[in-house]
Amino acid sequence: TRRTPLIAGNWKMNLDHLQAIAFVQKLAWNLKDAGHDFTAVEAAVFPPFTDLRSVQTLISADKLELGFGAQDISAHDSGAYTGEISGAFLSQLECQYVIIGHSERRTLHNETDAEVSAKIQAALRNNLVPIICVGETAADLEEHGPSAVPVAQLRAALASVSNAADIVVAYEPVWAIGSGKAATPEQAEQVAAQLRSVLQESLGQDVADKTRILYGGSVKSGNIAAYMREPNVDGALVGGASLDIAEFSSIVRFQ
Ligand code: G3H
Repeated sequence: TRRTPLIAGNWKMNLDHLQAIAFVQKLAWNLKDAGHDFTAVEAAVFPPFTDLRSVQTLISADKLELGFGAQDISAHDSGAYTGEISGAFLSQLECQYVIIGHSERRTLHNETDAEVSAKIQAALRNNLVPIICVGETAADLEEHGPSAVPVAQLRAALASVSNAADIVVAYEPVWAIGSGKAATPEQAEQVAAQLRSVLQESLGQDVADKTRILYGGSVKSGNIAAYMREPNVDGALVGGASLDIAEFSSIVRFQ
């Protein structure tokens, strides 16, 4: 099965809605000028919640081929959950994707595997594709090696997912995020291959074959091609480098 690569730009808490409009417009022009084929390599941005309506309006008015999604989702669809954002709202705003269980949510906001799992269910029942993030900390790496924690996190995340679900997995070693210390392509491949085995055990061969596994952690234009040559790496979840239009365009156009 050929998997279409996905380059996802996680803006984290950067760019307000006015900056987002200018950024997305320039990014789309930049990719268009370069002759980018969005069906060959999908590109998507993940702005803060407050930018999503502006980004949606621009993308639909200018018929841009850029995808977009949110950085988090509530486990609930509506009700007394002050400060939370419903998946129903996100899908109403034409988000295609939602990042779930990013290490910053797991560590800074104490998100557990159970919460991650509930959020994945919320995404799926609202027709959003969850980008399920897993990854080991430096301490995990030292204690258990590279794959034990990501494998356990993915098993927990998939426990109540059906084999008809459309999902994306992102492997992000926590020690590689924003550190400039990226995993080697071989390290990324090794864990990605194990995550694909988890997909196969939990959801069957078809899902394992078609599901994209992204690598994240200090991805830049200079190292993306090496990750993309690995058979089990199908794209990247890019943080810092997704905030620079020229740099993000080069990552999307890694070929
Ligand atoms: O979601 C993106 C990751 O946390 C990677 O961030 O590219 O700045 O290392 P980074």
